[in-house]
Amino acid sequence: MSEKNKQTTLEGKIAPRGKVDPRNKLNDLTGKEWNYATRSVIVTAYPVSGPKSLAAEIRRQHPSPKPPQLCRHFVKFFTKKGATVLDPFMGVGGTLIACSLSGRKGIGIDINPKWIETYKKACSFLGIQVQTVYCADSREILKLGLPEVDFILTDPPYSFMLSKERTGEKKKIGKGFEAKPFSTLPQDLGNVDYPTYRKELKKIMALACNRLRKGKYVAIFAKDLSHEGRMTPVHCHIIQDMMDIPLRYKGLTIWYDKTINLYPFGYPYQYVPNQVHQYILIFQKENDVTVPEV
Ligand SMILES: C[S@@+](CC[C@H](N)C(=O)[O-])C[C@H]1O[C@@H](n2cnc3c(N)ncnc32)[C@H](O)[C@@H]1O
Repeated sequence: MSEKNKQTTLEGKIAPRGKVDPRNKLNDLTGKEWNYATRSVIVTAYPVSGPKSLAAEIRRQHPSPKPPQLCRHFVKFFTKKGATVLDPFMGVGGTLIACSLSGRKGIGIDINPKWIETYKKACSFLGIQVQTVYCADSREILKLGLPEVDFILTDPPYSFMLSKERTGEKKKIGKGFEAKPFSTLPQDLGNVDYPTYRKELKKIMALACNRLRKGKYVAIFAKDLSHEGRMTPVHCHIIQDMMDIPLRYKGLTIWYDKTINLYPFGYPYQYVPNQVHQYILIFQKENDVTVPEV
């Protein structure tokens, strides 16, 4: 069996990969790999330290870095080798590192120069080339002269969530607990109220989708918002807003993030869930997208 035609099974055994169907225009996966890749729940624990963590110690300076291995899962499913992937909220580069690891071209945008510098440090640590990055407000995306892209994979901020103190954490950690916003920039989507967040995210995604080839896909990380005893179903709102762009909603993947600590939210009075999962919402661009006014 040639090396190219082997894959490691969950049990660590070497098994034949199977064949790539010549009709497959979406990715470079075989039928077997396609079958496994479309499971709707991901429970893989990605290393958080050491050589296999892909510079997690550096990337963790950001409040919410995504594992590049998880991003690679989506990059490899939704593109072929050599394709171009856009992330309009790149942070410290989970998507871009995934592109480097899988032979794709990445384009990343972040409003905060600190995160771009941290991404560059991670690349230098990993010995990989820095992908194309812009320090800009993604509302300005059309002014950057970007080429057409084959996939958008992004993890937007969570409205004002990170800048609010979470009762459970405060209880556990005590006075030393400090809420950490991504930045203090007024254009940062992490610093606006929820209705503004929805409106602005929709606008930015419509602008980004203007650069996406027709028929191609968009994957958006989303987490629901728990605040003052209420749960805001952020992932449902994002689905609704993206369908207005219009994108076709295709389904979701749930990622069980095993690194999340549990806190006594609500204790001992009311039910407040410990969210240890995030959603990855999948959409497809069917039609041209009207460019919104910025
Ligand atoms: C959840 S983080 C992305 C984390 C990223 N997936 C990673 O692996 O590091 C969202 C990012 O969006 C950036 N951001 C917020 N508002 C923005 C805007 N208007 N334009 C561009 N970037 C923005 C923030 O600086 C933050 O780094």
